[in-house]
Amino acid sequence: MSIVSSTGNPLRDAQDRRLPRIAGPSGLVIFGVTGDLSRKKLMPAVYDLANRGLLPPGFSLVGFARRDWEDEDFAQVVHDAVKEHARTPFREEVWEQLAQGMRFVPGEFHDDEAFETLRSTIEELDKSRGTGGNFAFYLSVPPKFFPTVVSQLKKHGLSDAGTDSWRRAVIEKPFGHDLKSAQELNAVVHEVFRASEVFRIDHYLGKETVQNILAVRFANTLFEPLWNRSYVDHVQITMAEDIGIGGRAGYYDGIGSARDVIQNHLLQLLALTAMEEPTSFDAKALVTEKLKVLNSVRLPDDLGKHTVRGQYAAGWQGGEKVQGYLDEEGIDPKSNTDTYAAIKLEIDNRRWAGVPFYLRTGKRLGRRVTEIAVVFQRAPHSPFDATDTQELGQNALVIRVQPDEGVTIRFGSKVPGTQMEIRDVTMDFAYGESFTESSPEAYERLILDVLLGDANLFPRHQEVERSWEILDPVEEYWDKHGKPEQYPAGTWGPQAADEMLARDGRSWRRP
Ligand code: BG6
Repeated sequence: MSIVSSTGNPLRDAQDRRLPRIAGPSGLVIFGVTGDLSRKKLMPAVYDLANRGLLPPGFSLVGFARRDWEDEDFAQVVHDAVKEHARTPFREEVWEQLAQGMRFVPGEFHDDEAFETLRSTIEELDKSRGTGGNFAFYLSVPPKFFPTVVSQLKKHGLSDAGTDSWRRAVIEKPFGHDLKSAQELNAVVHEVFRASEVFRIDHYLGKETVQNILAVRFANTLFEPLWNRSYVDHVQITMAEDIGIGGRAGYYDGIGSARDVIQNHLLQLLALTAMEEPTSFDAKALVTEKLKVLNSVRLPDDLGKHTVRGQYAAGWQGGEKVQGYLDEEGIDPKSNTDTYAAIKLEIDNRRWAGVPFYLRTGKRLGRRVTEIAVVFQRAPHSPFDATDTQELGQNALVIRVQPDEGVTIRFGSKVPGTQMEIRDVTMDFAYGESFTESSPEAYERLILDVLLGDANLFPRHQEVERSWEILDPVEEYWDKHGKPEQYPAGTWGPQAADEMLARDGRSWRRP
């Protein structure tokens, strides 16, 4: 991953890489500032960046929402969010400096007067805090509001940067609910902002362990020679959560786990795992390779056999009885929304032909874990007696995205003793043991990248649209066929998911 944008001068680049990446004069405007994401992730990330010395002294944060707040009220909300959710320790002097640049603009999205106030607020900050006209507008709002917000930004001259300054739009997921709606949203956004000014968030790409997929693959000689159909049997990409839908019924019901997670996070993980080596780590080269592999992804013909959806029923989790999805507050008791989804995908290219990629995600599963497991073929010939290798599985390389971030390699080893008995053992790399620094939160990295104009970790609209194109037939099939299978909370999902892999002679990992 490039640390700074290339200057074209190799000596200069080599020096620059040792310097911290610090944002220049700038500010951030958040629409949807009263939402959960803003309180739990965005506000703490801004503070953590300031605390790490990565924001300019005059950095300014503007909240826009339908609340009767003064600047001080907004600052208090940010303060509480930071105290509760920030990663780094609270330091009064950092907070004081940041709080001086906080402003709040009350209003609704269609309210012209409020956008005029926003404009004058930004002008005032340019003068008082030296933000230099550089502002990012973070749309942490449901997609139905995107058209109004972006057209208001244009109408009030907020989307146009003057000379020597920039304006950027940051867009939170969900980016549509199918291909058509995503295309419509892209068209709306691109009427106002140029492609290079639009930053679509997929927060998985901001995770250190996800960026590490590229380091593991392309900085080493050990793995890449095996990373293909000659050695790999299949790949399993899992994002399991133990939580339910919490207070997110309004967003989640009717959307479901496949749209919420597979369309974005898991297909991005697949793309990074399966793509060819990019010519460099700049945004354009990365998108080229990710898109190429996404374009080669194919759904199997029989979706009834190769996809599964489930919905959690009541069960036990962490020693507590928890309710089923249909009993959650705000959920339609007849809802067919999936809280679990598993999909088999093929990749039609020379590297991966015939190697299935199994993707699964679910809420209220056995435990929280995200991992990519590359499972290798068995040795083509075994000189050992079958009884010696009864406890030998398939070799695997597992990238543990979270928690327990790291990489595990599983292989067979002789059990000490007089017999030749071979059993699976593991070799482990753990971030916590190898590095002293703790990993920044994904949103810290992504907000900093937006302020720096570095688009490497942001999916382009073609990737978003292609991902919907992959998922749409599955959703259409599910709409027409049956209902999600219920699975008790705290288990590993519907039985049909186990059967899906068993039919291929495989089984899911139980992380
Ligand atoms: C979000 C989904 O994108 O990712 C949520 O909308 C999910 O449903 C969340 O809980 C998980 O993120 P993380 O970083 O905790 O794995």
